[in-house]
Amino acid sequence: MSYLKRVLRMAFAWLEAGLDRIFTPACNPLYHLGALGFLYYWVVAATGIYLYIFFDTGLTEAHDSIESITYGQWYLGGVMRSLHRYASDGMVAMMMVHMLREFSLDRYRGARWFTWFTGLPVLWMVYAAGISGYWMVWDRLAQYIAIATTEWLDWLPIIGGTIARNFLNPERLDDRFFTLMVFMHIFVPLFLLFVLWIHLQRVTRPVIHPPRLLAGGTLLMLLVLSVIKPAESQPPANLDLVPSQVGLDWFYLPAYPLMDILGNGALWGLTALGTLLFIALPWLPPLRRTAAKAAVVDLANCNGCARCAEDCPYAAIEMGRRTDGRPFDRQAVVSTELCVACGICVGACPTAMPFRRASDLIPGIDLPETPARALRDRIHEAAEGLTGDARIMVFGCEHSYDAPTLAGREIAALRIPCVGMLPPAFIDYVLSRRLAEGVVLAGCSEGECHNRTGIRWTVDRLARTRDPMLRKRVPRERIETVWAPPVEGWTLRRRVAAFAEQLRRRAAEETDDRPGEAAE
Ligand code: HEM
Ligand code: SF4
Ligand code: SF4
Repeated sequence: MSYLKRVLRMAFAWLEAGLDRIFTPACNPLYHLGALGFLYYWVVAATGIYLYIFFDTGLTEAHDSIESITYGQWYLGGVMRSLHRYASDGMVAMMMVHMLREFSLDRYRGARWFTWFTGLPVLWMVYAAGISGYWMVWDRLAQYIAIATTEWLDWLPIIGGTIARNFLNPERLDDRFFTLMVFMHIFVPLFLLFVLWIHLQRVTRPVIHPPRLLAGGTLLMLLVLSVIKPAESQPPANLDLVPSQVGLDWFYLPAYPLMDILGNGALWGLTALGTLLFIALPWLPPLRRTAAKAAVVDLANCNGCARCAEDCPYAAIEMGRRTDGRPFDRQAVVSTELCVACGICVGACPTAMPFRRASDLIPGIDLPETPARALRDRIHEAAEGLTGDARIMVFGCEHSYDAPTLAGREIAALRIPCVGMLPPAFIDYVLSRRLAEGVVLAGCSEGECHNRTGIRWTVDRLARTRDPMLRKRVPRERIETVWAPPVEGWTLRRRVAAFAEQLRRRAAEETDDRPGEAAE
């Protein structure tokens, strides 16, 4: 499993780096898969409403009405139909890539099990909605799907052939069938919206709108596709004939050839196994972080300011009633179930102050495995070995390139769970105590931080638009930020080398400016 994940991660990392160059990190579709899923959903919903106005739910009328929408008003109805089809396909494609990517990023276990688990009904419902949509057209493909699906369902002893008996006999097939299909095709997507809402319950500030440029480009792509290759039906269904050849939609219908090849029983077995594996995945080895390593609150240092709760990307902190009698209204309370130990809350806490005495450096909230005090000790240790005019302290996120491999005579590199974990006061500390001439923050990827908001909050804190702000006295030119995925080690190396050169030049200029020294 780990091997598969590593291979997938590498593949995605290369793909992301390539797409960063084409789309820029801000508009890279791989960083906005969930949001794109929502965009496709809204396109499907809007075009679906239009199509429904002209759709006749009768047995013979269904096919005719779809044909009339497609050809009678090709300029609008036809385009709407094609948009409906292609946006539905886009939703499946997006969902599959989104699922694989979350898996490769290991974002499906621990506290994230819930979001993963709720993806399962989303998956099933998208398929149920899509398949029922094909059914509604009532052409040869619909007939094939109807027969194959009912045979598949009828294989279950509890159903025992009743569906095929009731619906697929020419004498008995009636409008009830279509009413059922229409109901499914409308009700399932509506309910899907509710399930998607549940899907996002444990994600703080979920991104559900893609950036405008990406959204516009996606809509344009759908439109162009709809015009140059409009969606069409096959000849009307005829239950007296057995369809011999049907063109399949490989997004929604890849399971159908399997029914023919493996048989219904085997496909049921595969479906059940796949579902069980999907559910069990978050608990299968190798097990990683456990709740024991969640952030801990130290009430003696918590003043109830709520910055940690605002910055936590996983809604893992609630502000509760004060329990220690100190004169504050609230206190931070961490849910060990939801915390992924990213440390972003430590970066947000105003009490994570390295200037405090060593015995006092216990912030209001801290990570047991990477406590702020130990981080300061590591900074001192690392700084001791540095020499030269351009000593640099790199703080590298553990999801980015392996920063410690950069370490050398002039460079010290420390790994932290997320760049968002580093309180700005630590940068001030390194520079003002002259432990290094420059600080580099190396985060995973500009378009998408592994911990969702780590990079965003860091940028805002440095720009002094979010608390805790970097103090004004800190020379901004001595700080470099590099957001690059793990496969882009060369970007980090190149930027660090350029930054070192810049610091060296500055050191030389400062020496020249000093009277006496310049004359030497
Ligand atoms: C149409 C289908 C889907 C849509 C629209 C959708 C949408 C989203 C959105 C908007 C996010 C939040 C992204 C962010 O702001 O960081 C998200 C997160 C997530 N989704 Fe989906 N999703 C869909 C299907 C699925 C499926 C099938 C799975 C697979 C199990 C899945 C697994 C996840 C996971 C694990 C996360 C959490 C990532 C994290 O905690 O950082 N999603 N999804
Ligand atoms: S940021 Fe620190 S001081 Fe503020 S509520 Fe959270 S733990 Fe307490
Ligand atoms: S470490 Fe802090 S910010 Fe990260 S999930 Fe836990 S409580 Fe939230």
